[in-house]
Amino acid sequence: MTRGRIRSRGPGLRTSATAPAKSAPRSLHRRRFELPALVVLLVLLAAASASAEAPVIPQYGPDKHEGVSSCDGSTCHGSAAPRNDRNVRQDEVLIWTEEDRHSQRAYKVLLNRDSKRISQNLGRKKPPHQDDLCLDCHADNPPKDKRRTENNAFRVEDGVGCEGCHGGAERWLRPHDSGATHAKNVELGMYPTDEPIARTRLCLSCHLGDRKKFVDHRLMGAGHPRQSFEVALFSILQPYHWEPDADYTARGKQAPSDVKLWAIGQAVAVDEVLDAMLDDERNRLGLFPELVLYDCQACHHGIDKMRRWRPRQSTGLGPGVVRLNDSNFLMLVQALQLIDPAAAKTLRTDLKALHQGASEGRGDPKAIARRIRANIAKLLPKMEKWKVDAKALRALSKNVLADALGGEYADYAGSEQAAMALQTIVYGYYAEELIDDAVYDGLEQRELTKLLDAVADPDKFNPDAAKKAFRALQKKLAGR
Ligand code: HEC
Ligand code: HEC
Ligand code: HEC
Ligand code: HEC
Repeated sequence: MTRGRIRSRGPGLRTSATAPAKSAPRSLHRRRFELPALVVLLVLLAAASASAEAPVIPQYGPDKHEGVSSCDGSTCHGSAAPRNDRNVRQDEVLIWTEEDRHSQRAYKVLLNRDSKRISQNLGRKKPPHQDDLCLDCHADNPPKDKRRTENNAFRVEDGVGCEGCHGGAERWLRPHDSGATHAKNVELGMYPTDEPIARTRLCLSCHLGDRKKFVDHRLMGAGHPRQSFEVALFSILQPYHWEPDADYTARGKQAPSDVKLWAIGQAVAVDEVLDAMLDDERNRLGLFPELVLYDCQACHHGIDKMRRWRPRQSTGLGPGVVRLNDSNFLMLVQALQLIDPAAAKTLRTDLKALHQGASEGRGDPKAIARRIRANIAKLLPKMEKWKVDAKALRALSKNVLADALGGEYADYAGSEQAAMALQTIVYGYYAEELIDDAVYDGLEQRELTKLLDAVADPDKFNPDAAKKAFRALQKKLAGR
């Protein structure tokens, strides 16, 4: 996580004081709709969780991609201002072009000097903007025969275009424009971006990687930035080009609260990380491990200022060993603590065993990884039904902060995930009206900014400074 990112794009999007004038009303607007939508939501969730089959990631789907130009009509999604006369904003293309890094910008970075260096360091034959290795994540990159080439409709230069997330539109383009229900669109190949599990898998397919594309340690060694992701916060940062209002849920779409999205996102992230560990193409757990799955700072830090190491109960490991990056596991434990305490306890035990297997070669880490995945599959339906009320929010912030102060997030990645989680939880306090605008703005400008600063730069991370920031937030939230 870079300093600029959360500061200028995160909190900035959410407080009227610091926000770019254009974004603030939209994101705050969204908040107001969350509460009344809850009842409809619960009914929908019960119906939706029945179908367990994972939808196909858009890039790998069977349908032709029609191109951003096919969405861009001024009475469709190419309006220069919000219209909302057809349920949706209709200025989605503009938001994507101007504020969303997935637009042409995701492609354009492949033309810059950093990309060329990465590519040269790896000895790639093609330049990055023609190399599928890079295009698979920096653009919507379906196979050539799945692109509408007539009239230059589909252009890979458009970056991660609409269909990179919403699915190839070949079958749903016309129906969705003439009143098809959301369920019908999904049946015709639209990707269910509203569903938390499906959304997280989609984002992680690029923000972590999947079985077909992956930023491994070689890519990072060649100069690719480190990946960090949390689905609720990153959805806000994207930023929203949608409004989960009353008609949204009435149309059969899910609008989970941010904290629920966060919790499910952590479960899916753990599942995907374990999949990477179990995938022989990407990793040999224990023997020749894929270093990207380990805590970067276990290896990467100066040896001049030593004594950074702190004992951590959840690893059970001593100093001087390479550790798995378990930040998503630690967050999942927190969510489960409230949803299913027995499952939280099991995960804590399994995590310790996984650490010992991965770092010290003890036991059978693959079997443990498979067991954790099986447990997550069983827990997800329960997580989808979780009701995140005031009580849950208070318990969650209390527990996360207690663990932070107890030294559980002494590793950079742990502190980073905890900080992102607290950002989302405090946001939840605001949405549930446990704090008012003034208190929220104050936290955003002081305690949360300090906390995010403390985790802004992995190279400068100091666990004691992070602890101090966690403590300051704890003080401010006490009694709220
Ligand atoms: C598995 C997906 C994936 C692959 C493969 C991938 N990238 Fe990336 N790349 C990302 C994501 C996601 C980010 C944004 C990371 C963040 O900011 O959290 C990124 C960021 C970058 C950045 C920094 C962008 C900026 O705005 O500063 C560069 C440069 C880059 N990638 C180049 C490349 C090149 C060159 C290749 C091919 C050799 C490549 N990437 C392959 C997913 C990928
Ligand atoms: C990085 C992924 C991503 C990209 C790229 C993307 N979207 Fe979305 N879009 C989402 C997510 C997530 C949602 C929210 C969940 C939902 O409503 O399905 C969404 C929602 C929407 C909605 C639904 C609003 C509603 O009220 O039902 C529309 C319309 C939309 N996007 C259009 C577009 C268009 C047009 C583009 C291209 C300019 C685009 N999106 C690009 C992820 C993306
Ligand atoms: C097809 C690959 C792909 C998918 C799918 C995808 N992203 Fe990205 N995302 C990228 C790349 C590549 C970048 C970096 C672009 C750049 O820096 O120019 C990025 C950047 C971002 C950023 C900006 C990060 C920063 O450093 O400022 C956010 C926020 C983000 N993505 C959120 C999401 C969310 C939320 C989803 C799922 C709804 C998603 N992404 C799905 C490829 C993808
Ligand atoms: C087990 C130890 C280990 C872990 C864990 C690890 N690395 Fe590395 N990393 C190395 C080694 C060894 C090199 C090669 C150093 C060299 O060539 O001088 C390296 C090289 C690099 C380089 C290139 C440095 C340079 O000066 O050119 C980058 C960038 C990098 N790693 C990033 C990461 C990131 C990001 C993570 C976490 C996602 C990570 N590493 C995890 C050991 C590790």
